[in-house]
Amino acid sequence: MKSFRDKRRDNRPQPARSEQARPRDAFAAGRQQAAPAKRRETKQTDRQEPKPARRVLARREGLLPAERLPLILEVAPNADYALLDSGAGEKLEQYGPYRIVRPEGQAIWQRALPAQEWEHADAIFTGDTDEEGIGRWRFPKAPLGETWPMKHDGIDYLGRFTSFRHVGVFPEQASHWDHMAGLIAAAKRPVKVLNLFGYTGLASLVAARAGAEVTHVDASKKAIGWARENQEMAGLADKPIRWIVEDAVKFAEREERRGSRYDIVLFDPPAYGRGPKGEVWQLFEDLPGLADLCRSILTPKPLAVILTAYSIRASFFAVHALMRDTFAGMGGTVESGELIIREKSAGRALSTSLFSRWVA
Ligand SMILES: C[S@@+](CC[C@H](N)C(=O)[O-])C[C@H]1O[C@@H](n2cnc3c(N)ncnc32)[C@H](O)[C@@H]1O
Repeated sequence: MKSFRDKRRDNRPQPARSEQARPRDAFAAGRQQAAPAKRRETKQTDRQEPKPARRVLARREGLLPAERLPLILEVAPNADYALLDSGAGEKLEQYGPYRIVRPEGQAIWQRALPAQEWEHADAIFTGDTDEEGIGRWRFPKAPLGETWPMKHDGIDYLGRFTSFRHVGVFPEQASHWDHMAGLIAAAKRPVKVLNLFGYTGLASLVAARAGAEVTHVDASKKAIGWARENQEMAGLADKPIRWIVEDAVKFAEREERRGSRYDIVLFDPPAYGRGPKGEVWQLFEDLPGLADLCRSILTPKPLAVILTAYSIRASFFAVHALMRDTFAGMGGTVESGELIIREKSAGRALSTSLFSRWVA
């Protein structure tokens, strides 16, 4: 799941490349390009899998949905997770029992906590080796395993030291999870949720616990394996979650053809990614078509469509305009802004991503 792109970025702890600096993409971008051999494989598959014709888009008719912006959704320090401090191109976070230091391109300010607080970290992402697995982490106190037990709001799952600096969860997404769980509970009827680009599945677990029937789609077999492990770990194995390794666009197209419909769609695409057969995902080219597809696979009484975008050269006004146009004629409200994490030390807001959501 690593790519040479990842390595280039990871080797530079202070990327400070404004539009590309948010690190999350490193996971999704070129997930099949870990080693030269794999890169060759991907190129071959590319040739076998011609890009399908792009969806023909026409502007949707009808009144634009109401709007609410800017909406800044904040995750505050809590018992499961806290951004302890940030600065000098890095962040210090508490994930359950572990204190972790990782690069953070947005943290262009100075650290607020003294050096010894940072030195007491359990794990530091160094990115200084090309080895697979957890070789790119340094464990100053004692060697740690690849995974460790974590909780989100009572849901058990595994934190994970990945070679591309992520830890198996994006805590800022908790704002969306809570909102979605509230919609599912308030609906008081069976709710179907589609989670595209679902990664390790926290959103799917939250939706399932809230009572929804969930379809989780990700291009990475490894990520789906991690998500299934999390389902076991959470004690939610009996909940209805379909785990699907598939290209997100292809899956949504198939659901449209088959007439399968959803009440809530989450999509959290990377700036650049690949489907299991080498299908290329490029956010700026493919997002309008996928947003339109998401609209057409909604039930007659849908609840919400939630989009998050990381690492793109755009303002939330851009995704807001796209979502409002896409949901014209459907009523409801489009709310857009940023997901932020509030720092415990000096209270600064660390911006992680843009989002836009249509809520019925
Ligand atoms: C940034 S993660 C999403 C994180 C997740 N929503 C969460 O909050 O935990 C992006 C995911 O997109 C997947 N991905 C990349 N390209 C894809 C594609 N073409 N189709 C489906 N999934 C893709 C990656 O494997 C990765 O798991």
